[in-house]
Amino acid sequence: MIILLTGGCGFIGSAVIRHLMNKTKHSIINIDCMTYAASVESTAKFLKDSRYKHEQTNINDLNSLKKIFQKYSPDAVMHLAAESHVDRSIDGPGAFIETNIIGTYNLLEASREYWSNLEYPQKDHFKFHHISTDEVFGHLELNESPFNKNTPYNPRSPYSASKASSDHLVRAWRDTYGLPTFITNTTNNYGPWHFPEKLIPLITLNAIHGKQLPVYGDGTNIRDWLFVEDHAEALVKAIEYGEPGDTYTIGARQPRTNLQVVEAICDILDEIQPTPEGTRRQLIRYVADRPGHDFRYEIDPTYAEQKLGWKAKHNFEAGIRKTIQWYLDNRMWWQKILDQRYAGQRLGGKNNVR
Ligand code: NAD
Ligand code: TYD
Repeated sequence: MIILLTGGCGFIGSAVIRHLMNKTKHSIINIDCMTYAASVESTAKFLKDSRYKHEQTNINDLNSLKKIFQKYSPDAVMHLAAESHVDRSIDGPGAFIETNIIGTYNLLEASREYWSNLEYPQKDHFKFHHISTDEVFGHLELNESPFNKNTPYNPRSPYSASKASSDHLVRAWRDTYGLPTFITNTTNNYGPWHFPEKLIPLITLNAIHGKQLPVYGDGTNIRDWLFVEDHAEALVKAIEYGEPGDTYTIGARQPRTNLQVVEAICDILDEIQPTPEGTRRQLIRYVADRPGHDFRYEIDPTYAEQKLGWKAKHNFEAGIRKTIQWYLDNRMWWQKILDQRYAGQRLGGKNNVR
């Protein structure tokens, strides 16, 4: 299968590309315009492989998208390109509207024109897979059941509202034009190549450097954590076996409070790299809360597990250990990003900049 994948130099997209290149025979056209969140190193080793091509194009450039469809004749689309950080969406929602809503509209239109002109059997087998988040469902109280594919939408941040909008467009293009689309909604990911503005990489790097560890509010907010390599495997199963018109909610049943996550990172680093100053838990600081901070996300992945024949392999304790070890072993990558921050470029929410 020739897969046209967007956002392949990002955190999750690059994990999907590594999985596709290492464990399948599919070919990949990666459309990524290389925003601040992209990392060329994460897929660099495939650039010489004839199964992999990178087109540095913005998904808001409709003409270029149309040309790429004609040039490569893909069998499927996996759409991951997005602005993805909630704190940035609060500070500057415009880019989220541009990429997540208008960009998805452009990709749907380029796909529709291309797919309409296909002939049997390629037309019957074509799939458009939209990668989305559980944040479109809003947030849960402690006593509420986890999200599933029938949970009504109730997005609360500019990020989640833009992703919810894109989900609606994707369903509308199927219902109105017959474009064979389906959606996966996934919980919080963590793992290698995660840009250090999100909770886990930010806390890991601050803890390595003995810096303060910012916890928003009282640290009781809950996220449900999925190791990125497990997510990549689920997404590849979804493009192979997912049914147009369906929705798959993907997760690993690993909810933790933010404080539990931060303490786990401190404890593992204390074990691997003890410091004379004592436990890193002393570095935890409660800082001003995020406006409209969603309290709890949790996904019921039962349906996706049954339909896709997939189950996450890592619990949080196994995944976080691998993640921390990866950051310790890959200083060259993140040091360059931190150096850019010290050179004046913005990194993360205002609470994180010290
Ligand atoms: P990311 O921010 O790490 O990467 C996004 C990638 O998209 C980057 O390489 C960037 O250069 C590219 N991109 C952004 N705007 C673009 C544009 N206009 N044109 C072309 N390329 C563009 O994001 P991620 O964490 O890898 O998330 C990937 C997808 O998965 C997103 O759609 C996100 O909403 C979804 N998702 C993420 C998580 C998570 O925990 N990170 C959880 C569930 C769903
Ligand atoms: P984040 O990684 O930004 O993901 P999301 O907002 O998409 O869930 O944040 C995860 C949780 O961690 C969220 O509840 C906000 C919190 N958080 C902190 O407490 N401190 C931080 O420095 C950051 C970046 C996040």
